[in-house]
Amino acid sequence: MNQTALITGASKRIGRAVVEHLAGKGWNVIVHYNRSAEDAISLVQQLTEKYPKQLFSSVPANLANSHEVQSLIPGIVSQTGPFDLLVNNASVFDKSYLKETPEKLFDTQMEVNFKAPFLLIRDFAVHCRKGNIINFADTRVTSNKSNFAAYSLSKKALWELTKMAALELAPEIRINAIAPGVTLAPAGEGGAYLQNLAREIPMKRPGGNDPILKSIDYILENNYLTGQLLFADGGENLSKNG
Ligand SMILES: NC(=O)c1ccc[n+]([C@@H]2O[C@H](COP(=O)([O-])OP(=O)(O)OC[C@H]3O[C@@H](n4cnc5c(N)ncnc54)[C@H](OP(=O)(O)O)[C@@H]3O)[C@@H](O)[C@H]2O)c1
Repeated sequence: MNQTALITGASKRIGRAVVEHLAGKGWNVIVHYNRSAEDAISLVQQLTEKYPKQLFSSVPANLANSHEVQSLIPGIVSQTGPFDLLVNNASVFDKSYLKETPEKLFDTQMEVNFKAPFLLIRDFAVHCRKGNIINFADTRVTSNKSNFAAYSLSKKALWELTKMAALELAPEIRINAIAPGVTLAPAGEGGAYLQNLAREIPMKRPGGNDPILKSIDYILENNYLTGQLLFADGGENLSKNG
């Protein structure tokens, strides 16, 4: 029987690439979305046509709302049973130095990027009981630069949670994280944005999705790996200096 993955924030960009990659490897995929219903539904249709022997579905939830977060996994499991892989990909990425950060911005960063993964990891452990979890961190976890203060702290917390959960949930569940660097430009920014950032990193070019997808394969194939962070960042973490 095919294995099944739930991927959060999966209708676009990196999440969508992960969905398409896993689908190509024979996985059934549940595409979580919040605002992008149309994209999620058309992705499910495309994959169903391309891979008719696999199962694809979409599920909405606002991950800033803890009630919706806590309904997500119990709802899926009650309909289709336990699944095998949770990918915590959804995130918000709001620029703000510490001194300028409104409480609401702080709360949303923490709710979507840290609290929701915490609750989903808990619910995966309780309801699915075995399998794999992959968290999307960020190469910024190695830096104390504060231009995205709340975002960076939410990802640092997610990385700490990855290690803590790996210890508690082994051996039934392996949990690892991926730290992308210069990958895709945020909405509204063009290719020049990425090229400028890439000039500062050892590999001198944006990574795109490929290093992330290869990291996912490595995590899934290496069944002795847990509590680890794979940098998919062209060496960017090596030169972080405060
Ligand atoms: N892009 C990069 O270069 C880069 C670099 C370092 C790390 N990362 C990490 O890699 C992951 C993917 O990056 P990305 O750039 O592809 O992400 P993204 O486009 O910024 O966000 C992915 C999805 O998160 C979902 N999301 C946001 N707020 C939500 C909420 N309140 N409830 C539920 N879902 C919500 C959105 O779903 P809807 O569209 O359905 O609302 C969105 O499509 C993220 O965890 C990010 O932090 C990315």
